Amino acid sequence: MGLIDLHCHILPGVDDGAKDMPMALEMAQKAVDQGISHILLTPHHMDANYTNHKKDVLVKTAEFQKAINDNGIPLTVFPGQEVHLTGDLLKAIFADDILYMDTGNRYLLLEFPHNEVPEYAENMIFELTSRGITPVIAHPERNQGFQRDPDMLTSFVEMGCLTQLTSSSYLGVFSKNVEELTEKIIKANLGFAFASDAHNFKGRRFLMRDAFVKLEKHEGSDTARRFNENAKHIINGEDVEVDDIKLISELKKKKRFGFF
Ligand SMILES: [Fe+2]
Repeated sequence: MGLIDLHCHILPGVDDGAKDMPMALEMAQKAVDQGISHILLTPHHMDANYTNHKKDVLVKTAEFQKAINDNGIPLTVFPGQEVHLTGDLLKAIFADDILYMDTGNRYLLLEFPHNEVPEYAENMIFELTSRGITPVIAHPERNQGFQRDPDMLTSFVEMGCLTQLTSSSYLGVFSKNVEELTEKIIKANLGFAFASDAHNFKGRRFLMRDAFVKLEKHEGSDTARRFNENAKHIINGEDVEVDDIKLISELKKKKRFGFF
């Protein structure tokens, strides 16, 4: 088993990711080059710009897998959605228009609005968890609400959420602040898996191997192994261990000089 990517916009022609099949196949090869063997396809769903109904994603995923196989690329893809948090989420769940990260409908990749953590988020999380659904918050490190108040993330994990961190965030692609927040989330045991959130060949790329190299260097091989194991558990609908979570504000500050 190679690396598992839980969040990726490679399904062709459905959102702001891969434009067409040739581009998607080229991205698939790039993913394999980064050591990725399995990708959860997560087109945007119910955000301001895109609706990708479950039934369409299922058909398109089967077509894409066939093209991947026909081109001899050793990659397995699964159907999914990046589900935007809106007041209509429960309606979409009742209408069976939601794809989960696993076939048992346990884990839901949930994207918060970019600029905030809405006040109703807590209620919605309660509605989801009380139905046996575990939200996996997509890239909290890029959300301005969590950036302003990172300790909110500890509360959401206490409420039963998991998180997916974006590999390029950890590598400083977005900004130094996003990189540092990603590092803190990991140190507070609030990060559970990496995903690429790849959209194209520039900017938001795969960069998974590089993120795992850094993770192993900074946090050790056990943590790196656990991140990819967690991704496998999520895809399989299995338990993910939540261990000794901390408030980010209570993490020890980095010392400027180790000998003082
Ligand atoms: Fe995304």
